[in-house]
Amino acid sequence: MSVDKLFANAPAKTILAPMAGYTDFAFRDICRDYGVGLTVTEMVSSKALVMGSELSRRMLYRLPSDTPSFCQIFGHEPSVMAESVLVDEVKQYDGIDINMGCPVHKIVSNGDGSALLEKPDLAAKCISAVKLAIKDKPLSVKFRLGVADSNHVIDFAKMCKDSGTDFITVHFRTRKQMYSGVADYSLLENIAACGLPVFANGDITSREQYLNLIDRGAYGVSVGRGAVGKPYLFAQLAGSPWEINLYDVISRHATELAKVFSDRVVCNEMKKHVAAYLKGMRNAKSTVVAVNSAKTTEELLKLVCGFLSRDYVVTSNIE
Ligand SMILES: Cc1cc2nc3c(=O)[nH]c(=O)nc-3n(C[C@H](O)[C@H](O)[C@H](O)COP(=O)(O)O)c2cc1C
Repeated sequence: MSVDKLFANAPAKTILAPMAGYTDFAFRDICRDYGVGLTVTEMVSSKALVMGSELSRRMLYRLPSDTPSFCQIFGHEPSVMAESVLVDEVKQYDGIDINMGCPVHKIVSNGDGSALLEKPDLAAKCISAVKLAIKDKPLSVKFRLGVADSNHVIDFAKMCKDSGTDFITVHFRTRKQMYSGVADYSLLENIAACGLPVFANGDITSREQYLNLIDRGAYGVSVGRGAVGKPYLFAQLAGSPWEINLYDVISRHATELAKVFSDRVVCNEMKKHVAAYLKGMRNAKSTVVAVNSAKTTEELLKLVCGFLSRDYVVTSNIE
């Protein structure tokens, strides 16, 4: 499937960036209501999938309305990565995204994520093997500008193209930067000139930035932290009107998660989401503190309900 076809029905060319611990299936589906073009799962280990890890499989639960959606895998063994995309839970996704950007020590020291930036030959083998296994399904690769500098980013983008990648998402920071400083988009035009559609990623929070990056040659944008607690950012990027009933969304988020996870897990997962949904609201701090001590999801939702009236709605008209 071409990237144009993938985004044919989207109001804007936007991706919800994969974020471990945040882009669970319920949050991805909530972003759907606000017009996100493509969602991506949290990263899952190809090795764990092949070994039959129950947790990895459960992490790949997907709601049918969350379409199109990609599964993000990480690893460094071409045959294992190719085998992992044939696991049923992975096969239900519309495409595969390979993580070649994760800077976390535990991942890099294992040869995964951004370790592959230093091994372009091995990265090429991983990409080709996965592409062969998924046949006509689209394949994307997500990576950073480089390890300590951006000297090899153009070669890396070309390698992705030659190995069968359909589009790339570039986080315009180096691994060394982790999440510090600001994303540096100065090489966007050069990367786009390689001929692969490029999704620009890093610090995007406004339609102005979106339009500017498209103007400069990006095919679309990928948004991570800006959307946490603010799923309506996708409507804002598209220039569409939006409204959100925060209590309804928080309650739906928890109820959906409960389809797959125990109450203890749902309650703990929801704590960070509630903090994000309520961020910036006047007098929210004491509720967020109380929510952090909640023992059950029912208790957590009662606290949220006590703070937000059930019909409290924020809309684009009163931004
Ligand atoms: C909590 C957290 C978890 C993340 N997990 C992943 C991940 O699983 N896979 C991935 O490719 N990137 C991951 N990232 C990186 C984001 O996808 C994105 O590249 C980065 O946050 C920059 O974009 P932003 O400024 O829009 O957040 C994560 C980032 C954060 C903050």
